[in-house]
Amino acid sequence: GKYRVVSTKSMPGTRWINLLIEQDCRVEICTEKKTILSVEDIIALIGDKCDGVIGQLTEDWGETLFAALSKAGGKAFSNMAVGYNNVDVNAANKYGVAVGNTPGVLTETTAELAASLSLSAARRIVEADEFMRAGLYDGWLPHLFVGNLLKGQTVGVIGAGRIGSAYARMMVEGFKMNLIYYDLYQATRLEKFVTAYGAFLQANGEKPVTWKRAASMDEVLREADVISLHPILDKTTYHLINKERLATMKKEAILINCSRGPVIDEVALVEHLKQNPMFRVGLDVFEDEPYMKPGLAEMKNAIVVPHIASASKWTREGMATLAALNVLGKIKGYPVWGDPNRVEPFLNENAPPPA
Ligand code: GLV
Ligand code: GLV
Repeated sequence: GKYRVVSTKSMPGTRWINLLIEQDCRVEICTEKKTILSVEDIIALIGDKCDGVIGQLTEDWGETLFAALSKAGGKAFSNMAVGYNNVDVNAANKYGVAVGNTPGVLTETTAELAASLSLSAARRIVEADEFMRAGLYDGWLPHLFVGNLLKGQTVGVIGAGRIGSAYARMMVEGFKMNLIYYDLYQATRLEKFVTAYGAFLQANGEKPVTWKRAASMDEVLREADVISLHPILDKTTYHLINKERLATMKKEAILINCSRGPVIDEVALVEHLKQNPMFRVGLDVFEDEPYMKPGLAEMKNAIVVPHIASASKWTREGMATLAALNVLGKIKGYPVWGDPNRVEPFLNENAPPPA
């Protein structure tokens, strides 16, 4: 192969690697056993000649790494993730390295995990499972693991982009929940869907579902019974959910986070969970991943899973393929899905179909 492409992790499927090999690339996959690579580890991987890198969200892609990649002749970097808060895009631009991410292929998979956590929290699935395995079940009781009925309640979505909108549709259509959402942009198609579905229900003699675009995030927090967070992580969304905002939520609300950990002040959340036993959370991400803040692991009203929202076979293979295409597109000098010089929602469902 003429080009050297490095992947900092082994990735699912074979399509991504075949695409690169077919296009004149030699692919090197890091064999280091430890999960999180340091900047030094990655500099060693980049070496003297490297045309492109596929990296992971656990890595700190800042000034140092882009300088090293540029020095090795590298022109392309793709995160194997839709989120790119671990990437300093300005630094990449400064060193002439194109940056890609992998949106689109993980929308439904991630929304399905948020929905799973919502249902699991509402019906106390994990607590009930632990109870059963501990041999504590000694017969049906009217009060045993009573949870919340979602039908007719309100689902709140903060950040109604691709993932937030897909989640909202699942909860509205699947469980007949009303929707309230907050986003800087109007989610027109989501609104149309809820309106049409409401009309369908009404035509069948059922209570229609409703939607509302909230004027502020606080309105969502006050009014919703189940709230799912889907913003990107940046300076404006760091600790979006803090002590004060938790206090405005319903005592029996459910809070779901499949975005990025630092969107929630996790110390404040642990305290809130202690003070409000009927308040429940489902968390896929944590402030200091892979660690949890003290006390969280002991809370019965928290469900915690290890950042697996995009973990379906189809999606992970799709992410690997997109990451390879991002790098390849830049190296070979053609844009595969879009402009490879920008972090771009290549598979943006709003984009016109390819000509
Ligand atoms: C996963 O967290 C992603 O951003 O793809
Ligand atoms: C519960 O199992 C019921 O039959 O109501």
